Amino acid sequence: MSEAAVGYAREQGARFVEELKELLRIPSVSTAPEHVGDVRRAAEFVADGLRGAGLENVRLIETSTAVRKGHPLVYGEWLHAAGKPTVLLYGHYDVQPAEPLEEWKSPPFEPEERDGNIYARGAVDDKGQMWMHVKALESLLKTDGTLPVNVRVIVEGEEEVGGEGIAAFVREHGDTLKADVALVSDTEMFAPDLPTLCVGLRGMIYTELEAKGAATDLHSGMYGGAAPNPFVALAQMIAQIKREDGHIAIPGFYDGIEDPTKAELDAWRSLPFDEEEYRRHEVGSTELTGETMFSVLERTWSRPTMDVHGMPGGFIGAGAKTVIPAKATAKISFRLVPGMKPEETFAKYAEFVEEICPRGIQVKTTLIHSGEPIVVSTDNAYVRAATDAMAKVFGKETVFVRGGGSIPIVGDFVRQLGTPTVLMGFGLPDDNLHAPNEKFHLANFHRGIESIVRFLDGVGAVN
Ligand code: BES
Ligand code: MN
Ligand code: MN
Repeated sequence: MSEAAVGYAREQGARFVEELKELLRIPSVSTAPEHVGDVRRAAEFVADGLRGAGLENVRLIETSTAVRKGHPLVYGEWLHAAGKPTVLLYGHYDVQPAEPLEEWKSPPFEPEERDGNIYARGAVDDKGQMWMHVKALESLLKTDGTLPVNVRVIVEGEEEVGGEGIAAFVREHGDTLKADVALVSDTEMFAPDLPTLCVGLRGMIYTELEAKGAATDLHSGMYGGAAPNPFVALAQMIAQIKREDGHIAIPGFYDGIEDPTKAELDAWRSLPFDEEEYRRHEVGSTELTGETMFSVLERTWSRPTMDVHGMPGGFIGAGAKTVIPAKATAKISFRLVPGMKPEETFAKYAEFVEEICPRGIQVKTTLIHSGEPIVVSTDNAYVRAATDAMAKVFGKETVFVRGGGSIPIVGDFVRQLGTPTVLMGFGLPDDNLHAPNEKFHLANFHRGIESIVRFLDGVGAVN
């Protein structure tokens, strides 16, 4: 029974945190070529953790796509619970870049505990949450010597760059991951102490828009007024793609969108959400923007949007340089909601950009990566096992929310493998994912482990 495992997890909790710190010291930034070795070291660390927990057939699986070699997947299994369901546990060990470094109170890859939190890049997204899975398995195997279910574990190293390697693996070797249910801990709780299941994620396309003007950089005094400026052109195009009221002006962009049901919207309205508090303390801006006829939760969960992440090119050094750059780029992504298809959205966007491209500018649109939106079913025994587990740990009823972020492989688990997926995450709204001073609330790390132990136990009782 899970009580012994829960006791073990409590006793060993401090060690679990020390191990997590070791993993957090590895800068496994998947987008950065200079960190390929670190990414692999993190994969090895996870594999060792799985072996230590008692998983079998633990191995790294190399990935590659048509254009490049990818970061390895980590796989492990334990398949001795004859007649019991099989659970697929998913997480990712790669992290986002830590810059701007000067904004961190303690260095991003030197984990530090402060007021019940552990601060480091990847603390909550997703090393800390992935490690909860490993430690839940260890707690069960070291006490009971057995698991209440069969388990397959897959941990990827390219989630933060689109997850193409795991997508290819699922397409080609999906049977290796065959399971009755998948458990993903890579989302947030709606509020502290409020157990939460995430039932929907937005999809995305991440693109680069490159604008070219003159054949070479030009003196802006000699040529300014006659030569096209690619930055100005990008600004003009961006302003036409997304209007000030948040509406995306690409023709057909909103076609086919499936709105949330009335029941779902009603449930969202009853969540403890204070817009002014959110503006002030989470966003920290003078105003919230976007489509004001939709609530903030709708705008971030069930409405598509577009954002600009950076505009490389031109002069960005200190001081001044008077130049008209020959080319400029904008990194632009769109978040997609159910009913939208990444390829179709990209095609509409690329066509629109050609149409609105200012005179004298050549524009090129590149798709960097994409992922489908997903809404998961809540009406199954696995979801009940999750809410029962969290009711025991938190003493509260679970709320169902969506997440505005994306986890590309979840759509493939559901659509390609037909595996119902439970998104049981333990992050908090102020955990600073992708931002400076990312943290994980340590109480949630421990409650997460206990919830996962109880969830696995509950799934073992499903037949
Ligand atoms: N864990 C996040 C996604 C997330 C965060 C979902 C909060 C729900 C609530 C994930 O690691 C992530 O950041 N994904 C990227 C995906 C992209 C790079 C393909 C994202 O959403 O930007
Ligand atoms: Mn994540
Ligand atoms: Mn992330």
